[in-house]
Formats: sequence, C-alpha cells, structure tokens
Amino acid sequence: METKYWIVDSHVEKEQVYPQIKEASDLLKQNKVVAFPTETVYGLGANAWSDEAVQKVFQAKGRPSDNPLIVHIASRNQVESLAVDISEVAKKCMDAFWPGPLTIVMKRKEGLSNAVTAGLSTVGIRMPDHPIALALIKEANLPIAAPSANISGKPSPTSAAHVKEDLDGKIAGIVDGGATGVGVESTVIDCTTEGQIVILRPGGITKEQLENVTGVDVLFDDALFTEKKQPKAPGMKYTHYAPNAPLYLVEGSPAFLQSLVDEKRKKGLKVGVLTTAERKEMYQADTLFTCGYRNDLASVNHHLYDVLRKFNHAHVDIIFSETFPKQGVGVALMNRLEKAAGKKYIREHEEEH
Ligand code: TXA
Ligand code: MG
Repeated sequence: METKYWIVDSHVEKEQVYPQIKEASDLLKQNKVVAFPTETVYGLGANAWSDEAVQKVFQAKGRPSDNPLIVHIASRNQVESLAVDISEVAKKCMDAFWPGPLTIVMKRKEGLSNAVTAGLSTVGIRMPDHPIALALIKEANLPIAAPSANISGKPSPTSAAHVKEDLDGKIAGIVDGGATGVGVESTVIDCTTEGQIVILRPGGITKEQLENVTGVDVLFDDALFTEKKQPKAPGMKYTHYAPNAPLYLVEGSPAFLQSLVDEKRKKGLKVGVLTTAERKEMYQADTLFTCGYRNDLASVNHHLYDVLRKFNHAHVDIIFSETFPKQGVGVALMNRLEKAAGKKYIREHEEEH
C-alpha cells in the first residue's frame, strides 16, 4: 500500500483546517488508518465505531487483540456518546487536564467497536492537546481510536520519521507535525470507582497533580504492573520499548557506570551509554547519547524514545543507562526505562535496596 505523507506546520492557529488535514480526515471516514501527532507521541488513528477500521490498526502494529485502544476526542460532548456513569472525579479530571496527556477509563457505552475495548466493559478516553490532532478529529467528526503509531514492542514514535520507520507501506497516511512534546504516553487512570483514582500507567500528568485537583486518594502501585499480577491496563504486561541490545539501569556514581563500560570494552564489546547533558563529559564509550537534562526530567522524557531508537542504529552490543529519581514525571520516565531494560538493574551499593 502507498502511504500518503503530509507535512503540516503545527505552529498554526488552533484547529485551523488545512487541505492536508481534510485529506487525512477523508481517509479516516473511509475506515482507513492514518498516523497523526499528539502532544505525547504519534497515534495511529481509526474510526472508533468501525470494526473494520480498528482491525486494520491491530494488524498494522502487530498488536495483541486483548490490548484495548484509547479513544481520542476533540470536544467534551463526545464523552456522553462513549461512556456512561461518569463519576464526579472523572469530570474534575476532564475539567483540569483536558486537552492534555490524561486518559480516563470509564464505563463504556454500546456502539463502539468491540475491538477498541478488547471486550472490556470500560473505555479509555482522552482529548489530546495538539492543534493537528484536534483539527483532524473535528474534521472527521468521529471518535478516533489510536494507539501509539509504532510496531508493537518498539519505542513509541515521537517524530513522523519514527512512524515511517515502522509503518511505511502498511497504513494509508502519515500527518507529519514535527516532534511531539511530552515524549512519553499519557497517564492512564481508572475512574470507575467513586472517590478514588488508580493510575494504570504513569505519564505526563503526575500523581501529585491528580491529588491536588480532585482531593481523592490516588493509588499507584508498581506491583500492579508485574507479570505475576493481572495488570489492570492490559498493555502494561507486554514487553515494550526494548532496544535490540540488552539495556542495564545503573544506580550509582558516574565512575561506577564507567567501570562497567570499561570492563565490557576490554572484552571487545561495543558499549553504549545513555546519559544526560550534565554528565556527558564523564564517560568514554563507543556510543554515547545525551537524553535531556537530569535537572529537568521532562526533558529526559521528551528525548527518551528517540535515543532508544538511535541505539539500534548504532549497533551496540550492550547499553548502560543512568537512572533517575522516581518523583513527579520521573515516575513515568523510570517506568518506561524499566520496561525497556526488562528491570535489569546494576547497583553500586546493593545494601540500599
Ligand atoms: O499518549 C497516549 O496515550 C498515546 C497517544 C497516541 O494518545 N496513546 C497510547 O496508546 O499510548 P497505546 O495503545 O499505546 O496505550 C494504551 C494503554 C495500554 O496500556 C492499554 O492497555 C491501556 O492504555 N488501556 C486502554 N483502554 C483501557 C481500558 N479500557 N482499561 C484499562 N486500560 C486501558
Ligand atoms: Mg503503545
């Protein structure tokens, strides 16, 4: 299949409709699959009412069919067509964080493609904060089911080039709106129980922000996401983001990380290091990628998936990464890094854990 490619300037007047967006939305209305930018990562969109359209998304990504898709909307009145029994807490979250990187799981209504919800009685809904995404959804006049626009298991795409790398020839079109902002996927919360919020996937909206706005208990338990327990967000149980070379998370000083690098290089291995601007001068490795600033964890999130993809192109044998405090958006960052590393840690001081 030929994949159409449109470039749209994302610094445009909010929700202005360009001919490219009109063409892309026409394809969505014909139940074809189109990738588009959001403020988190690129999404792979399809008409959420249509089984035929949604099946194409699963097929293009190679996604397991038990993993539900997020439904993207452009206005608040679309929620009522998708969900029932919307809790007060959910409404507060919509008011405070939409449009934005927050997906709210609610009880679903009939009518949605069953493929979207993977047979669950709930649906995850989000209003993205990106002028192109909003314009596209409005123009299509449909709720748009969209997972991240990558091959299942690979890092999510934060540029149209990443989408092309994975899906060129497999989908109807790609809207290129430049690099995404947040860089990791939305926070997914379960709001089906009145009076509490459960974070199913950490992201750009933090536990603290949710607590401040709603005043209810916000639960987040990393253990929810281990293989042993049935994860509440089905997607959390799958391996994700893993680079081709084994990745190790190093807790300790830069000197300790360097000693690990030296040891492997002596054995003739090509070693990669994932570092930050503040520390990049401290290492000598075969390949070194700087991933934002340690004193600004949002900037590390912004660059993370691009750097993980770059390691694949650099053909290293092993990668050592710095680690970051699990605070604020650092929770999402470490969640993604741990997934990419399969939780392989090397600690300088074992007794601290
Ligand atoms: O930022 C994002 O959320 C991006 C952009 C494109 O919007 N989308 C995204 O979609 O990351 P995806 O499909 O890669 O991840 C969706 C996550 C999965 O972990 C899935 O299991 C969970 O949300 N999810 C979706 N619907 C759910 C539901 N009804 N109940 C529980 N978890 C759900
Ligand atoms: Mg994904």
